[in-house]
Amino acid sequence: MVVEKNVSLQPYNSFGIAARAQTLVRVRSVQDLQALRADPVLGRRPVFVLGGGSNVVLTGDVERVVLKMEIRGRRLVQEGARAWTIEVGAGESWHETVAWTLAQGWPGLENLALIPGTVGAAPVQNIGAYGVELQDRFESLDGFDLATGETFTLDAAQCAFGYRDSVFKHAPALPGAPGSAPRGMGLAGRAIITHVRLRLPRPWVPQLGYLDLERKRAEAGVAHPSAQQIFDWVCEIRRAKLPDPDTLGNAGSFFKNPTVTPEQCQDIIAREPRIVHYPMPDGSVKLAAGWLIDACGWKGKTVGRAGVYDKQALVLVNRGTPEDSVTGGEVMTLAKAIQTSVYERFGIRLEPEPVVV
Ligand code: EPU
Repeated sequence: MVVEKNVSLQPYNSFGIAARAQTLVRVRSVQDLQALRADPVLGRRPVFVLGGGSNVVLTGDVERVVLKMEIRGRRLVQEGARAWTIEVGAGESWHETVAWTLAQGWPGLENLALIPGTVGAAPVQNIGAYGVELQDRFESLDGFDLATGETFTLDAAQCAFGYRDSVFKHAPALPGAPGSAPRGMGLAGRAIITHVRLRLPRPWVPQLGYLDLERKRAEAGVAHPSAQQIFDWVCEIRRAKLPDPDTLGNAGSFFKNPTVTPEQCQDIIAREPRIVHYPMPDGSVKLAAGWLIDACGWKGKTVGRAGVYDKQALVLVNRGTPEDSVTGGEVMTLAKAIQTSVYERFGIRLEPEPVVV
C-alpha cells in the first residue's frame, strides 16, 4: 500500500479543479485494501474512491482518505458459443479497454468508445452512450467490503443499475431511516470495486439506432458497418460534440436527462413545440436536458471561471487556467443558476450527474 500526504488532485480530476487530498492511498491490489483496513489510523477513517476523476466536482480539499484505484489487468475468462467474457482490473482505462477488445476481435463495446474514466467507475454510474449502457454488457464484478473486510461478487441485479445509477451511488441505509437506496442496500463509501467482468454477446449485432450514428452510416453509405467503423464514428461524434478534458476541463454531461409523464410532456409541447423528447419503454418521456438548457440561452455563457460549453449546453467547463482554475463552488453556482432558469421556464428540476465532493 502506497500512502502519500498532501497530494494535489488537479491532475486526477477531469475538471482540472485545484484541490488537495490530505491522504491518498494508491490501491494496486486487494491486499492493499486489506492493509488499509488493518491500519490502526487509516482503517478507521472514511474513504473517497477516485477512479479516473471524470465524474466528480471537488468543492474543497478532501479530508476523507482518497483511494486512487490502480488495479490493472485484462484477460479473456471465457470464449463461449454465445459470448466472450473478459475480466478487467478497476484501474484500467475504459476507452483503452474498449479499443483492446476490438483489437482482439471481440466486438460489443464500440458504442461506449471514448468515455473518459476507469473500468471500476463504469458500473458506479452505469455509463451509457449511443444506445448502449454498461448494464447491457455486464456480467458481474468483484469488490471489497471495507466494513467487513470480505471480498464479494455481485451480478447485474444486485448492482441495481438504473439510468446513470447503481447501488454504489447510494449511502448504506441507516437502521430505522427511510431507505436511501432505491432498491436493496446502498454501498457508497463501503464497497470498493476491484474487478469487472464484461459479457460481449455472440453473434455480434451492431447498435445503430441512435440518430447521430444513423446519420454517420448514411453519410458513409455503408449498409453493414463493422464494429471498428462504429467505434470510429462514435469517436468522431464525441470529439465534435464534447470537449477533450485534456484541453478544456469538464465532467461530461453535467445533468441527467429528466423524465416526465406523457401528460407533463404534452403540457410542455403545447408551450414549446420544438422540445426534444424520446418516449421510453416504461411509458414515461425523456427530455433532452441539453436542449432545455440551450433554450434558456445558456450555451457558451461564462460565470466567473465556470462556463457552458458552446457546442453542447449539457456540459459545464473550466474556463480558468491550471494556475487559476475554476473552483467547485463556481461550478455549483453556475449549475444552480441553470437549474433555477430551467425550473422557472419549464417546471423541470434538473439533477446533476457528477458526484459533488
Ligand atoms: N441539444 C440541443 N442543444 C444542446 C445540446 C443538445 O438542442 O446544447 C439537443 C440535440 O440536438 C439532441 C438532443 O438535445 O437532439 C440530445 O443531445 P445529444 O445527442 O448530444 O445527447 P445528450 O442527451 O445531450 C446523452 C448522454 C451522453 C451521451 C449521449 C449519447 C446523458 C446525461 N448524457 O447526451 O452522456 O454521450 O447522450 O448517447 O444521458 C455523459 O453522461 O457524460 C455523457 C456525455
